[in-house]
Amino acid sequence: MHSLSGYSVLLSALLSLLHSSSSVLGAQASSSERPSPSSAAFALRRFDYVIVGGGTAGLVLASRLTENRHITVAVIEAGTSPEAVAGNLTVVPGYAGALFGEATQLNLDWGFQVTPQKSLLNRTASYLRGKALGGSSNLNFMSYGQSSKGSHKKWAELVSDQSYTYENMLQYYRKAMKFTEPQAGARSANATAWIAAADAAASGTLPVTFGAYVQSWSTWVALGLEAIGIHQVSAFVNGNNLGWAWNLYTIKSPKATRATSETAYLRPVLRRHNLAVFDSTFARRIVFDDSKTATGVEVTSTMTNRTYIVSADKEVILSAGVFQSPHLLLVSGVGPKAVLEQYNISLIADRPGVGQKMYDQNSISVMYQVDLVTNTRLSQDPDYAAEVLEEYKHNRTGPLSSPGGDLFGQEKIPKEFRAGFSDDTKAYKLPADWPEIGYVVYPNGASVLQKGANYAIMQALLMAPRSTGSVTIKSADMAVAPVINPDWFSSQTDVEVMVAGLKRVRQALSSSAMAPIIIGDELLPGQSVKTEEDMALYVAQRGSTLYHAMASNKMGKTSDPDAVVDNRGRVIGVKKLRVIDGSAFPFLPPGPSPQTQVYVLAEKLADDIKNTVY
Ligand SMILES: Cc1cc2nc3c(=O)[nH]c(=O)nc-3n(C[C@H](O)[C@H](O)[C@H](O)COP(=O)(O)OP(=O)(O)OC[C@H]3O[C@@H](n4cnc5c(N)ncnc54)[C@H](O)[C@@H]3O)c2cc1C
Ligand SMILES: *[C@@H]1O[C@H](CO)[C@@H](O)[C@H](O)[C@H]1NC(C)=O
Ligand SMILES: *[C@@H]1O[C@H](CO)[C@@H](O)[C@H](O)[C@H]1NC(C)=O
Ligand SMILES: *[C@@H]1O[C@H](CO)[C@@H](O)[C@H](O)[C@H]1NC(C)=O
Ligand SMILES: *[C@@H]1O[C@H](CO)[C@@H](O)[C@H](O)[C@H]1NC(C)=O
Ligand SMILES: *[C@@H]1O[C@H](CO)[C@@H](O)[C@H](O)[C@H]1NC(C)=O
Ligand SMILES: *[C@@H]1O[C@H](CO)[C@@H](O)[C@H](O)[C@H]1NC(C)=O
Repeated sequence: MHSLSGYSVLLSALLSLLHSSSSVLGAQASSSERPSPSSAAFALRRFDYVIVGGGTAGLVLASRLTENRHITVAVIEAGTSPEAVAGNLTVVPGYAGALFGEATQLNLDWGFQVTPQKSLLNRTASYLRGKALGGSSNLNFMSYGQSSKGSHKKWAELVSDQSYTYENMLQYYRKAMKFTEPQAGARSANATAWIAAADAAASGTLPVTFGAYVQSWSTWVALGLEAIGIHQVSAFVNGNNLGWAWNLYTIKSPKATRATSETAYLRPVLRRHNLAVFDSTFARRIVFDDSKTATGVEVTSTMTNRTYIVSADKEVILSAGVFQSPHLLLVSGVGPKAVLEQYNISLIADRPGVGQKMYDQNSISVMYQVDLVTNTRLSQDPDYAAEVLEEYKHNRTGPLSSPGGDLFGQEKIPKEFRAGFSDDTKAYKLPADWPEIGYVVYPNGASVLQKGANYAIMQALLMAPRSTGSVTIKSADMAVAPVINPDWFSSQTDVEVMVAGLKRVRQALSSSAMAPIIIGDELLPGQSVKTEEDMALYVAQRGSTLYHAMASNKMGKTSDPDAVVDNRGRVIGVKKLRVIDGSAFPFLPPGPSPQTQVYVLAEKLADDIKNTVY
């Protein structure tokens, strides 16, 4: 274990293997080389805070709370070190695509499937969620950026808490972000990135940089976006979300390695004596006492199958992500009464909103063959692949140094494309600065149709979905996967906006600015897809998630019966239990990067926890 990852935290396995009473175990463990919490806390498996889920949010919390050496913290994580499982797949940014295909088999992903989607011809789909220290920050495509000022204002209003305005959240955005320039000269001259000095927060914790390589394709799409009236702006780290910008990534420069909550927040503090990481440990249930106070978590070691309780003196914090935090609440007795009754789960609190009103974004692709080198060549030409590997190894530049998504565009659908919108869609009002559609690039095709050819994709991404979905249970046992229904496109508004987005992508790709590199006719959806009905059908056939689901434990006012957590992430109706992760949002914030929102909420609420006196 040590040599693989530098980890030494298989505490649960150790506990079970040593096979004696817990107090002796504690002493033995803390006298070993293994980093461990104070031996008393460890011996009793009793901590101030127990965090369920060592993912994106969970490790921010663990890191911040243990800055105070008098606070003891346990992290319960079902996975283990990502590198122990997947070698360099989570490390090299350019392997993001390959990892995406392999994560489930590697058991670095939970392997969830969504229910047949009624607005998508009953298609089902897999829905990736990271299962490792660092959670989904190991699997994502690394984009980083802020949400819009208007959406923050809306958030503050929804929860009656002015600390969520953009101006007041900026301190946490800055606390998270450690900006470094990419290697000088690494990007092509026509892809010079732009960030205002005042926005380039450099003293935070999470490494953020522009890619050390820009795909040729992206520089041409940039021209296409300009041609349709979407203009370049500074990186999306100033509260603006309209225009297009070169992507910031959670990548460490100049090494060009992926930064995750595990590499940035956990690794540097692993040796803290007040932090215990129970990896390979599955949380089954939150334990409550008679006064509905959360007192601990029942867990099972996935190594030994032993079940025991880890106790929390101060709080239990759920950071198990958008599906499993509501799942864990439900099997523990917090959720819609009727559902709990159906599975004979004793009711702790009737909270109808648990698992409801979940938001997700969906996307649609347009594909062409192009007269450029794209990553299609990487998969076909071993000599080129070897060159690219050498370049990365020696110089930390080239296609492997970046995930390839290079730029992001955001806009409100322009007037001339709204003419056909239904009255209901016209009535759907968002803050003035909240984009409706995002534009995304991929330096590869959906398939290789002809050997030796290069393909590329541009996508429209639904930024302000009106459809909401749900997460629920089909068993009282946490080990049985939850029922996940994003209900994509259940609102007709989303179909109309998506079709408009698809038209805009086609407009950009058929602009004269891009003509020099476009080869032949559109391959996807193809010229037979002409009318709005055709396009809506194409959306139903091919619409796909970018894995950005959020808000399944809605944050709201305590007077709102559908709210699950209050403005401080505290679960309404019980005591000493919070949810802090992607599920605990009032909606899916716009912007290039859900993960940024998760990091920043965790930074903010870590402060709140530290300031809470018991
Ligand atoms: C393929 C993909 C691409 C993405 N691309 C981007 C992108 O480019 N930019 C962006 O900003 N966002 C992106 N996202 C979304 C972003 O990564 C997530 O929104 C964010 O990481 C979620 O953080 P979280 O803390 O809510 O949950 P997670 O990071 O998923 O953490 C949850 C943790 O809880 C653990 N856990 C769950 N249940 C249990 C249990 N019962 N017992 C013990 N442990 C448990 C899990 O193993 C996991 O480690 C992407 C996501 C995916 C999957
Ligand atoms: C990643 O690991 C594989 C397998 O060990 C190796 O072949 C490859 O060269 C490594 N890639 C890099 C960029 O180091
Ligand atoms: C989807 O499934 C539902 C329920 O089984 C069925 O009524 C409907 O006709 C199906 N739709 C399609 C397009 O197959
Ligand atoms: C930008 O420069 C790169 C590298 O020289 C080149 O491949 C690409 O075609 C250029 N893009 C445009 C729009 O000229
Ligand atoms: C794990 O333990 C439970 C209960 O103690 C038992 O029902 C189950 O069969 C065990 N599973 C394995 C894989 O041993
Ligand atoms: C719930 O309990 C009742 C009565 O004990 C039993 O009949 C029923 O089968 C149980 N349901 C489930 C889903 O376990
Ligand atoms: C590394 O960069 C230098 C300077 O740009 C270049 O000459 C060299 O060929 C690069 N090495 C590799 C292996 O790509």
